[in-house]
Amino acid sequence: LASIDVDISGLEEGSQLTVKWRGKPVFIRHRTADEIEAAREVPMSDLKDPIARNDNLPGDAPATDADRALDEEGKYLVMLGVCTHLGCVPLGDGAGDFGGWFCPCHGSHYDTAGRIRRGPAPENLPVPVAVLADGVVTLG
Ligand code: FES
Repeated sequence: LASIDVDISGLEEGSQLTVKWRGKPVFIRHRTADEIEAAREVPMSDLKDPIARNDNLPGDAPATDADRALDEEGKYLVMLGVCTHLGCVPLGDGAGDFGGWFCPCHGSHYDTAGRIRRGPAPENLPVPVAVLADGVVTLG
């Protein structure tokens, strides 16, 4: 299956874009410093799903913010925009009780690292295979 390149050089801090990849929406967010800090402050014991769900890492990698973000500074977050409950597309741009994403279908709240924090979804939003180089994200 094909990889795609997404130019994110114009993606401003505090905004996100959605692209379609392999038939699914993929969210790419340029997080603010506050969003990164909020995600990094969360104790692991507060997480409903303790696994990173990041296809770039071993399957047992923990769901720390560093293991969810694309780059070392944590500015960019790339995830499938598919709720892990029954597959609706969550709302973004700070939606929900944890300032991240909210799935209106049955009320799942995801935090600023896309980790499930409240509601029926069982897992964090999945992070696909992705690489960032020279302002371009390559998916797949
Ligand atoms: Fe998202 Fe049910 S599909 S909460």
